[in-house]
Amino acid sequence: MVTAVAQRLAAQRREINDTLARLSLSSENLQQVKDKMRVELERGLRKDSHSTASVKMLPSFVYRTPNGTERGKYLALDLGGTNFRVLVVKIRSGIRKSVRMYNKIYAIPLEIMQGTGEELFDHIVQCISDFLDYMGMKNTRLPLGFTFSFPCRQTGIDKGSLVSWTKGFKATDCEGNDVVEMLREAIKRRNEFDLDIVAVVNDTVGTMMTCAYEDPKCEIGLIAGTGSNVCYMEEMRNIEMVEGDEGQMCVNTEWGGFGENDCIEDIRTRFDREVDEGSLNNGKQRFEKMTSGMYLGEIVRQILIDLTRRGLLFRGHITEPLKTRGIFETKFLSQIERYRVVRAILQQLGLDSTCDDSIIVKEVCGTVSRRAAQLCGAGMAAIVDKIRENRGRNQMNITVGVDGTLYKLHPHFSRILKDTVKALAPQCDVEFVLSEDGSGKGAALITAVAQKQVTLRTLMDIMKRFRRELGNGLCSDTNPTATVKMLPTFVRSIPDGSEKGDFIALDLGGSAFRILRVKVSHEKKQTVQMESQIYDTPEDIIHGSGTRLFDHVAECLGDFMEKQNIKDKKLSVGFTFSFPCAQTKLNESYLLTWTKRFKASGVEGMDIVTLLNKAIKKRGDYDADIMAVVNDTVGTMMTCGFDDQRCEVGIIIGTGTNACYMEELRHIDLVEGDEGRMCINTEWGAFGDDGMLEDIRTEFDREIDRGSLNPGKQLFEKMVSGMYIGELVRLILVKMAKEGFLFEGRITPELLTKGKFETKHVSSIEKSKEGLTKAKDILGRLGMEPSADDCIAVQHICTIVSHRSANLIAATLGGILSRLKDNKGNPRLRTTVGIDGSLYKMHPQYARRLHKTVRRLVPESDVRFLLSESGSSKGAAMVTAVAYRLADHGKRRTVEMHNKIYAIPMEVMQGTGEEVSTFGSFL
Ligand code: BG6
Ligand code: BG6
Ligand code: GLC
Ligand code: GLC
Repeated sequence: MVTAVAQRLAAQRREINDTLARLSLSSENLQQVKDKMRVELERGLRKDSHSTASVKMLPSFVYRTPNGTERGKYLALDLGGTNFRVLVVKIRSGIRKSVRMYNKIYAIPLEIMQGTGEELFDHIVQCISDFLDYMGMKNTRLPLGFTFSFPCRQTGIDKGSLVSWTKGFKATDCEGNDVVEMLREAIKRRNEFDLDIVAVVNDTVGTMMTCAYEDPKCEIGLIAGTGSNVCYMEEMRNIEMVEGDEGQMCVNTEWGGFGENDCIEDIRTRFDREVDEGSLNNGKQRFEKMTSGMYLGEIVRQILIDLTRRGLLFRGHITEPLKTRGIFETKFLSQIERYRVVRAILQQLGLDSTCDDSIIVKEVCGTVSRRAAQLCGAGMAAIVDKIRENRGRNQMNITVGVDGTLYKLHPHFSRILKDTVKALAPQCDVEFVLSEDGSGKGAALITAVAQKQVTLRTLMDIMKRFRRELGNGLCSDTNPTATVKMLPTFVRSIPDGSEKGDFIALDLGGSAFRILRVKVSHEKKQTVQMESQIYDTPEDIIHGSGTRLFDHVAECLGDFMEKQNIKDKKLSVGFTFSFPCAQTKLNESYLLTWTKRFKASGVEGMDIVTLLNKAIKKRGDYDADIMAVVNDTVGTMMTCGFDDQRCEVGIIIGTGTNACYMEELRHIDLVEGDEGRMCINTEWGAFGDDGMLEDIRTEFDREIDRGSLNPGKQLFEKMVSGMYIGELVRLILVKMAKEGFLFEGRITPELLTKGKFETKHVSSIEKSKEGLTKAKDILGRLGMEPSADDCIAVQHICTIVSHRSANLIAATLGGILSRLKDNKGNPRLRTTVGIDGSLYKMHPQYARRLHKTVRRLVPESDVRFLLSESGSSKGAAMVTAVAYRLADHGKRRTVEMHNKIYAIPMEVMQGTGEEVSTFGSFL
């Protein structure tokens, strides 16, 4: 009797062992899984096999892991794991590098997961709405990173169409559609708030980024949770589905689909097939169904049913609970293996068990989870070896960022996973780091990086628009409507070293009015001596009558000549006049329109040489010969050209902004002749006056424009130049204070006063060491009592405004440089840009930012940026010297001879400025 029982028990044991043996994998099995996974990874990457590969290898458009420079405040959604979360993530860079997050978990009811797409996305937006209310952030349009943990075919960082639902989701009308668009539409439907959806991210990618923020060696992301998946940094040259060979991109493997082409049928058991058949996506995600949290409990249940049916368990009774799909959650698996609580849990599930039963159940759980961990390990071994081979290395250290409830809660999963990787990829030293913060942090980091990419894309676009405007301005047909006036200057070459003489230079229109004496002598080598004096230009004069303005200029000039003791000489004068002028020759220059701070009446449309001559004559106490009028950009280019013969661009980033450059005469429709070059004063400050920049102008830009002397004009200038930067910052501060985000909502009358926050303050506040102290001082002088956080925020706002300025100037300068490059037809452009202006000179970060962005926008160039140390007057003197020489040799007329002279109708010359601008094409 006893033997019979013992024999029966032994037979039962054998049966159980046999059953479980089918789920136990040998080293050979695992090696094969690794090899097959490798084959599928390669097939997924290659164009010819991609469509049939079971591992889809989806490009993520994430090109790099975080480097600590990311910053900003972002919203993140995390959909597709156990929990749906909405988060706000604040990232700081630099020495204060840190990430702060707040999140709220929301339920997604089953009927919504499996209802219509519209219902699902409406629900998501409803949760976002609740979250924004809860955080009091409904009115701030934040950038959003969307962790969407399903396979998406991406064509950009913010574009991803759902390949197919996996895990527990099955909402209709989503597969094949762009999830970002669906989210945008749902936000529009709700019509309650707005968000910029900047990035859509798989949870593996988010996890990799989260962990890489702490550990730069992290280049793989693994999820072992509800689903199972991996991403890693692949070489671009291997990703045939995306153009380009340089650098790396993160690939979302979607390894859960491994085996869909039957390549692992040898290790799949009938339990796996049962689970598959009972799932929402029969035949799909076969690897995931053997390895992830959503299915392990189901596999266990199938085995238990089988054992029970064969009388090996639960006394052969298949009870209702046992028949219930999903009853065996993976967390029970973890608990059963972790604690000695099998019976209690079985009881909780309504399964009445004996002591033997609980031993068997525990064994089943152990087998199933062990197999899952080993399979993941084998897959991971394939990945790390691939990365190692990509890099041609014998040995490699690498970190895997991991997340997911299975990995986190199961007592043995992580150990078995690691052991398997070690055994199957001995040449790799793989460290696994648990993601403590979920993938939302990573999604925010990606959003931060993506925003930078968006910036670059936008700048590229603006550069293109500006280049088009350059072309329009040069061409006689399109010039009348072009905003960028492209004014010929009649300056045909940069200084050649032969210039000499004794000249007076006037420099009017920048932050200071200067008069200078410039002596260019030619003893052994060319030397320049300069003496200068600054004169006041009071507001009542620059806003008064033109006659008064020019009388003032003549008076200052008389004073200067007297001080120099040259009142009896008739010196040649070069006049830097920093406003848009239509020139017909070097010394005939009609003001088209005032810009910046100037608004003297009766000058627009007039020749300023005539006006100044008249004022001098009226005095009668000295005589002067105004030989040349130059724009400050031209003066600057010539000043720098004196030191560097390669200089062919001049730019000003000061009170105003503008650029000139040497254009081929054959492209300048407005001047006759095809040989050689002429300097063109672009007057780029007016870029955007036709609405071309409306997409990037903000409410603050519009407010500045409304309050300016020339509304609707110089819109580009008003976004970037020194006259406006401080005011832009002030307007933002006021708005933020009013909304209670700054200064505890307090605003002083000083802060409300136009012009109280100057551009030089922006420069001080952005200084790296003392910037925050400066912020406190400057705000203190405006009667404010800023907290330390306020100061940081103000500094940040300054940075945003000045950075935008540098970026925009980089885009327009990029337009000029790319045009120069095409004009020359060389594959690489070597050139020098002469620069002047207080914003560029005084701002601690400006120059570096500008140079960096220009290099990014025009990569095939070597650009030297040369600061004009001696203002524009030296250059103006050079131009005067040439004019003088030509005049001196009785050839003065030749300056005009090559030019086409256009008539300027009287009514235009003396009409309103506006008419002249519309007629601005008359040259
Ligand atoms: C979370 C991540 O921590 O883990 C999610 O934030 C991810 O993005 C999830 O999907 C995966 O684990 P589980 O077990 O919740 O599916
Ligand atoms: C000066 C030049 O150095 O810079 C001027 O001599 C020019 O001609 C000026 O107008 C521009 O800068 P800002 O900051 O004075 O407007
Ligand atoms: C499923 C999804 C995949 C996700 C994984 C983990 O496999 O298809 O995109 O990464 O689950 O959540
Ligand atoms: C304004 C003027 C322009 C000048 C620039 C820089 O944009 O219109 O002529 O060059 O300011 O001073």
